[in-house]
Amino acid sequence: MIKGTTKIIGIFGYPVEHTKSPAMHNAAFEHLGLDYCYVPFSVKPEGLKAAVDGIRAFGLAGVNITVPHKETVLPFLDKLSEEASFIGAVNTVKNENGILTGYNTDGIGFMRSLEEKGVQAKGKKVLILGAGGAARAVGYALCKESFECHIYNRTVEKGIALCGHLAKAGGKVRMADNDSINDKVFLSEMDILINTTSVGLAESDAPLLKTSLLAPGQIVCDLIYKQTSFLKEASKAGCVTMNGLGMLLWQGAAAFEIWTAAKAPVEIMRKALEKNLLG
Ligand SMILES: NC(=O)c1ccc[n+]([C@@H]2O[C@H](COP(=O)([O-])OP(=O)(O)OC[C@H]3O[C@@H](n4cnc5c(N)ncnc54)[C@H](OP(=O)(O)O)[C@@H]3O)[C@@H](O)[C@H]2O)c1
Repeated sequence: MIKGTTKIIGIFGYPVEHTKSPAMHNAAFEHLGLDYCYVPFSVKPEGLKAAVDGIRAFGLAGVNITVPHKETVLPFLDKLSEEASFIGAVNTVKNENGILTGYNTDGIGFMRSLEEKGVQAKGKKVLILGAGGAARAVGYALCKESFECHIYNRTVEKGIALCGHLAKAGGKVRMADNDSINDKVFLSEMDILINTTSVGLAESDAPLLKTSLLAPGQIVCDLIYKQTSFLKEASKAGCVTMNGLGMLLWQGAAAFEIWTAAKAPVEIMRKALEKNLLG
């Protein structure tokens, strides 16, 4: 029940109608009996600064930031976490007496979803398809642990720029081209393959690489929430597959803990997400 004391958490996105985060967070607040409420806000790009000022004016406890504001929100915040600063994108904001700190929990969300699958990424060779915001977050989390990362991107210049940037995080980072991602020897050396592009959102999207070259036991991930053709074909090839639902859950759990300092009830959040996705 919303009362005079209820703390409000928001999500700023445009569009925002599709978001699954309110279901996940409100279920968690209710389960723990926390006096919080999570609300979606449709914020157009031209209204972003006013919306961020509104966090202070309305005394919101925090917000999530989603597409298309993850990068453009940075200049309006007071402080950034180390991750958010390196990645150049924010998905979580905490308001402490009008001081707004930006965090990025996407990378940790991905790593926890891998761990949950029993996958230890340390020392493994990874192929990341894509060089957008999600690739930066996932790549940073992987490189910090000194893995060998290969980046493939349709727009080569963006891929090269990401390689250079991620190398500063301490990992071994190399560029992969069209030939390498369709080369059996190269692919066979990869322990973990991750699609961070939006290819796969449409049913008709073909995977970016030849899945017939994948081998049983390889870990194949897609940040898209559903079973994409990439995951379906990899599964047929005997690979262990993981869609983006776990990352969505665990980035939300990390954000929840930043706002409330309470331990996130992950299983309650998972159930709420799954129910919302089915509904
Ligand atoms: N599970 C989660 O919690 C989670 C979190 C964040 C994002 N995501 C998902 O991750 C995906 C990417 O998000 P983002 O924020 O990184 O987007 P973004 O910054 O716009 O980057 C999009 C990436 O996809 C590539 N791409 C798009 N269309 C392509 C095509 N037809 N062929 C080849 N490459 C193509 C782009 O390549 P170019 O550079 O060549 O344009 C770029 O590398 C989305 O599907 C999003 O829903 C999931």
